[in-house]
Amino acid sequence: MLRYFTAGESHGKTLLALVDGFPAGVTIDEEPINFELKRRQGGYGRGGRQRIETDKVDVRTGVWHGVTLGSPIALEVVNRDYKLERMEDLERPRPGHGDLTGAVKYLGSIRGVLERASARETAVRVAAGALAKQLLAALDITVFGYVTEIGKEKIKPVDASLDELRKIRDESVVYGLDLARDEAMKQYIDQTGKEGDTLGGIIEVRVDGLPFGLGTHAQWDRKLDGRLAQAVMAVQAIKGVEIGLGFEAARRPGSQVHDPIHYDESKKNTPTLGYERPTNNAGGLEAGMTNGQPLVIRAAKKPISTLAKPLASINMETKEEESASYERSDVCAISAASVIVENVVAFEMATAVVEKFGGDSLEEIKARHELFLKMAAER
Ligand SMILES: Cc1cc2nc3c(=O)[nH]c(=O)nc-3n(C[C@H](O)[C@H](O)[C@H](O)COP(=O)(O)O)c2cc1C
Repeated sequence: MLRYFTAGESHGKTLLALVDGFPAGVTIDEEPINFELKRRQGGYGRGGRQRIETDKVDVRTGVWHGVTLGSPIALEVVNRDYKLERMEDLERPRPGHGDLTGAVKYLGSIRGVLERASARETAVRVAAGALAKQLLAALDITVFGYVTEIGKEKIKPVDASLDELRKIRDESVVYGLDLARDEAMKQYIDQTGKEGDTLGGIIEVRVDGLPFGLGTHAQWDRKLDGRLAQAVMAVQAIKGVEIGLGFEAARRPGSQVHDPIHYDESKKNTPTLGYERPTNNAGGLEAGMTNGQPLVIRAAKKPISTLAKPLASINMETKEEESASYERSDVCAISAASVIVENVVAFEMATAVVEKFGGDSLEEIKARHELFLKMAAER
């Protein structure tokens, strides 16, 4: 079973991910992992912290001569801004954070909760996802995340190929798919920041090259839609997840939701195995299994909770009403969130690949993948 855990505080010494069950024989390149880490630090609207950190992964265990051994892989991203021992507690919990609830639950400090609840931890979730992408790449599976909405503003993708869209996303200051919208988005974020307020948005991730049959209908906790929703929802500040049409499906009659099935023999050797669907409203998943179509998943991120013009709160010492505490913070982190969601989706897909095709070595996975495609094409 492929899985991972993370450890580390926002201003602690370091951040760690321990990836267990990663197959042997995958050549690991740190550069693409560092590229993702850099993207996570970017995007218009971030605060001062990102100027201090230059995140780089250190693959500490589980790799020999650049190739995975099948043993646990420890990934480390060191915090430059280590100052936890010198940091003071907050007195006035920030609405929208775990400050109040965590301090009560653990009978402890707000600082002790916020340091771990902070999205800084996602640096190593991204590293784990970027590692997983190197396994997916060996099966020609690609994962692509971008921003489709910021606050009330939509960014509609321009009409272009997937490769071109990727270039556009990497050029965009907000990681959207229409460069013509960048300037307006910058102004919107700047204006919101000036007003002491913050913004959220919507992210879309698509996964291409998926074979039929990842995940299963057979048991609730192995359904891939449920597992993806948990992984994405567990990203800080994500408050909604949709697959395919998502909530829109509830508003339409069935004839305008479900994707008809056709057969085209000439496409037998593609991921669809020739079973063509003119639409992909299911977002690539039916009954918790991949159906040969690209996976499409969206996530809604709430606005940042730390406001420069703070909301009402309580001083937990005096119980007097005061404004919430303010810590250095982002105005809009939707672009960074798109990188995080992209990478947690990648990890979940790699988990499903290992489950379906066996987890010991890449060679075995590839052989079984190929055999399965051959057998499945006869169904
Ligand atoms: C990429 C990213 C950056 C974030 N940056 C901040 C920030 O600078 N300030 C802040 O108050 N919250 C920030 N958050 C949100 C909080 O981490 C999150 O709202 C908080 O931990 C409470 O968890 P919940 O929103 O999942 O309930 C960020 C979230 C993400 C995904």
